[in-house]
Order: sequence, then structure tokens, then C-alpha cells
Amino acid sequence: MFYLTTAIDYTNGSPHIGHAYEKVLADVITRYRRLRGDEAFFLTGVDQHGQKVQQTAEKEGVNPATFVKRTTKKFLNLWEKLDVKYDGWAETIDPRHKACVQAILTTLKDQGQLYKHAHSGHYSVRQEQFLSDRDRDESGEFGPEWGEVVELKEENWYFKLSDHTDWLKSYLEATADAIIPSFRKSELLNALERNSGTDLCISRPKERLRWGIEIPFDPDFVTYVWFDALINYISFAGYRAAPDADLPDFSSLWTTDERPVHIIGKDILVPAHGIYWLCMLHAMGFADAEMPRLLVHGWWNIRGEKMSKSLGNIVDPAELAEKFGVEALRYYLVRDIVTGKDSDFDVERLIMLYNTELANELGNLCNRALNMSQRFTEGVITRGGIFSDEDLALQTSLAESTEAYRTAMDEFDVSKGLEALSRHVVHCNQYAERMKPWELNKDPEKKDRLATVLQHLAESVAHCTVMLSPVLPEAAAKLAAQLNLPFLTELSLSDLHWGLLPEGHTIGKPKPVFPKIVLDEEKPEVK
Ligand code: MSP
Repeated sequence: MFYLTTAIDYTNGSPHIGHAYEKVLADVITRYRRLRGDEAFFLTGVDQHGQKVQQTAEKEGVNPATFVKRTTKKFLNLWEKLDVKYDGWAETIDPRHKACVQAILTTLKDQGQLYKHAHSGHYSVRQEQFLSDRDRDESGEFGPEWGEVVELKEENWYFKLSDHTDWLKSYLEATADAIIPSFRKSELLNALERNSGTDLCISRPKERLRWGIEIPFDPDFVTYVWFDALINYISFAGYRAAPDADLPDFSSLWTTDERPVHIIGKDILVPAHGIYWLCMLHAMGFADAEMPRLLVHGWWNIRGEKMSKSLGNIVDPAELAEKFGVEALRYYLVRDIVTGKDSDFDVERLIMLYNTELANELGNLCNRALNMSQRFTEGVITRGGIFSDEDLALQTSLAESTEAYRTAMDEFDVSKGLEALSRHVVHCNQYAERMKPWELNKDPEKKDRLATVLQHLAESVAHCTVMLSPVLPEAAAKLAAQLNLPFLTELSLSDLHWGLLPEGHTIGKPKPVFPKIVLDEEKPEVK
């Protein structure tokens, strides 16, 4: 089983393009793995506790429970709109999650992994954490990234993180795919070098924060939001769940034959996932072979700057989907960023990539291939005569693109996978220009040649449809219907050999699937 999760999104605000990217990426990878013939389970959800939520709810004059219900709906609506299909939905206010967090806390305490201690020091309200001198900038101050910093003395519960950091270091060094892409691993190892020796404060006194999961053995405290949130990856996978909890069977999801993958943004690798989470799992008794892989993606920025409420440059994915279509947005989000690297969000590029790669190249190929087959051979696809060098070159291009697509997608590099597909589509259009089936049709002697050329084009469209289906499920379904390939969802990558459309196959009625995006200002004026 391939078990994939994303970060769970904070419910103190609205979803933006960064959230949308991560969920679309996970959706594409899950669909791809099913296409590969694997069983897959995709979990996503929302992070509903913590100080930020409590503060925003207070500001809006509602209780946190009502507030998170409202904001959670925004995420649910967006995933529905963007065709993000998950198998499990995590909400941290769910009583089943709470029971799991509390069970873990009790076990860790019984095992001597938790202790109570009074700490005084500087505390960042925004980041909900105590600061140390290492967090000061060159001028000795706590920088603006920490927001309001106050002096605080507090008794709290601590997790013996420092018991596990030597193990973590050796685990990371020994495990090639612990962190993907691998360049992020050195960042993590450096942070570990700086952090070792400190334990993790995992509680907050109720006077300061009420909105969280109560510490089961000390009711004056709630659980620190990260400790609570990270556990979602196992609680909603059925870890220590009651038999009637209606959750998956943990041992079939969390396997060692393929370790789980957590998709997260680069900002939450250190320390949350790379240090806290891996050490928490180790403390719970997870073996090295059971440790999840962390797939760390980069950020979408706006003209090189971080997206933020204060800069007023937040991009609303629902608005974009409304304006340009869901498929155009999905395509752009996974096409214009290399998994692991940052990218600049730019609507002009969204339009340009859609119009060139989908409307002009793929759309044109589909229209000409299907239309000419309808008009010249009544939609019947036959092998025709002997294959020419040009035909063989097209078959090689398809085989190479398919292989490149598969390798890239296996490595979670969707952009590279799509680029490989695009290369073949361009090759097909050039082939059509050179073979000129419209000329061949004029000569009854060349009927065989015409059939062969049309077969090569239709066969290519069929393969591209299958490979495109994880990214553009709706467009692929439409194309499959036109190709008369009703079993698209049952096809797997291993079916992609030459002859997918069998001899004598009849295609259906063609209809454009990728209408060009024309902005209002470009439309001709109606007089
Ligand atoms: N709630 C925590 C995660 C807990 S996981 C146990 C959180 N939430 S978040 O809403 O701030 O971010 C959710 C995900 O969106 C993170 O993986 C984060 O990296 C990602 N992104 C947030 N802004 C982003 C961009 N501008 N670009 C791409 N992804 C970004 O962190």
C-alpha cells in the first residue's frame, strides 16, 4: 500500500495558492500511483487547535469551535472544486484523534519520556514557542519573524527529545530517501547539530491556551499544537484506534514494503517534521524501516516575495479556477514548479502554458487526429501499410516519452513528467505537418498510407490521454469518451504498449477539450 499524506492546513485563515499546490500535487501523485497499478491511500485535512486559532476566533467574537467549523468548510469546498480526491480526512478536533493523542501521551509518560519542569524565558506569541539566545539576530534582538515577544515563567510538560537526537542523526545519515529531495537533508542535519541537547515543551497551561487537547494526566494543561497535529498522520490511519472507530487498519496502511510519504512545505521540515515527528515516532517504538519519507516541496512566491496577508498579495485559488478553469489551474500548479524548488506565481504564465501546451499543441493534435479519422476513414483506426522511418521515429518518441514520464513521476517530479508528454505531442504535430494526411486523402492510391498516419496520431492521443489523467482527470475522461476508450479508469501504465487502440477500433465524435484562454481585453469588440 502506498500511504501518502499532506500537511494539515491551519484553519485560522483561508486557503491560498500554496495550500492548493500541495493538495493538487498529492492528488496527482495518488492518481498516478493508481495508474501504475498500486493501491494508494491519500490523507489530508485541517489543523484546528492552537493559539492562532484561539486568537483569530476571539477577534471575530466567536468561540473557536464555531470558528474552525466555518474555516474548515472553506478548505473542503476548495478541494471539491479542484477535484482533489482524498481517502481520509483529518480534523484535529475529531474525538478519535483526541483519544489517540491522549493514549500516546499516557504511554510516553509511563515510559518516562515526559517530565514536568518550570521554565522562564522569552516567548514568541506568534510562533507559540519559547525562544533561546540562538533565535536572536546579529544585533542581539528577536527579529520581526517572532512577532510579539514576552517574558514568561511557566511550568510545563516536556518530551525527552534529546534522548532521540543521536538516533535521528544516524538514521538520517543511513537512509538515502529519508528526505526528498536530498539537498534538504543537510539543512536538517545542520539544524540537528545546533538543536541537540534541548527537549520539547509539549504542553500549554490552560490560563494561556484553552483550545487544545487536554493532557490526560494533568487537566490544567493542553497539548502543544504541533505535538497534537503531527499525530494526525497515524491517528487517522487507525493507530491505536477503537475497533468501531471507522478508521483504516493501521498495519495495512503503514507498511515497510513501501514506507509512507508525507508531503510538506520547506518551512515545516525543521524542526517540526524532521526533528520532532521522527523523534516522536522513535519514542513510540517505530523502527527505522517504519519511518516515513518526507517529500519537501518549495514555495510559490509572488514576484520573489513571500505571500502574506500583510503584503496583500495572497492569491485565491477558487477565484483562479473560476476564471480560467480547474484544469488550467491544476496543470499550472504542477507544471511550473520543480518539486523541491520555489517558483514565482504568475497568471501570465498560467495562461501561456495552458494556451501553448494544452490548447495549441495537445488540443490541436487531438482535434486534427480525431477529426481527420472521422472524415477520412469514418472513425475506423487500422494499421494500413508498412511502417515508414517517420512512423518508427514517432513510435520511438512515444516509447521514450512514456519512459521519461514514468521515471519522473516515480520520483514525484510531475513537471518533468508533463514536459516529457509535451515533447511527444510536439513531435506528433510536426509528423502531421510532414505527412499531410489531408493531401494523402486526395489520392485513392494512398489510402493505406493515410490509415497508417491517422493510426499513429490516434494511438498517440490515446497514450497521452492515459498519462495525462492524473493531472487532468476531467479532460482525460472527455478525451477517453471521444476515443471510445470507456475503460480509462481501469487502464494501467503497463497497458501502454503500441496497439492500445486495437485494429479496427472505431473512435467517437471529436469535440475540442482545451478551448484557448482569451482574456476579456483580447476579445474582439462586438459592435
Ligand atoms: N498546520 C501546519 C502543518 C501541520 S502538519 C502536521 C501548517 N499549516 S499551514 O497552513 O501554514 O501550511 C500548510 C502547508 O502549506 C505546509 O506544508 C506549507 O509549507 C504549505 N504552504 C504554505 N504556504 C505556501 C506557499 N506559499 N507555497 C507552497 N506551499 C506553502 O504549517
